[in-house]
Amino acid sequence: MSYDQPYPHAGIQLNHTAVYASDAYLSAEFIAAILGLEVGAPFGPFLPVDLGNGVTLDYCEKRDEAIQSQHYAFLVPDGQFDAVIARLEVVGVTYYADPGHTDPGRVNDLFGGRGAYFDDPDGHNMEVMTRPYVRP
Ligand SMILES: [Fe+2]
Repeated sequence: MSYDQPYPHAGIQLNHTAVYASDAYLSAEFIAAILGLEVGAPFGPFLPVDLGNGVTLDYCEKRDEAIQSQHYAFLVPDGQFDAVIARLEVVGVTYYADPGHTDPGRVNDLFGGRGAYFDDPDGHNMEVMTRPYVRP
């Protein structure tokens, strides 16, 4: 199976989700820069980051209450993983091999690929990986 194939399964696909942020521009620009993407034009209250696979992250500002940390995982091609890690290092964001953030500066080798976790500006737990989870 090729992981570069955009839609390996026909049917229902996640199209977009709101990502809450205390500063939508900061957070959208952050993840776009790390992943090598671009922030789109504002769409109502949302600031979109099109992942290029049919899914858009719609950053939405929420200033008057705490941001609840969520987890977002991005499958990246093997050839882009090193660049993602390099961008994290350039901006001084620590990455970890594990979701609990106890193994800093290392990547994991889960499922025969490589992966790492890092926080976005509001503490959303972001994950990049080159192989999807193998689920039972
Ligand atoms: Fe995950």
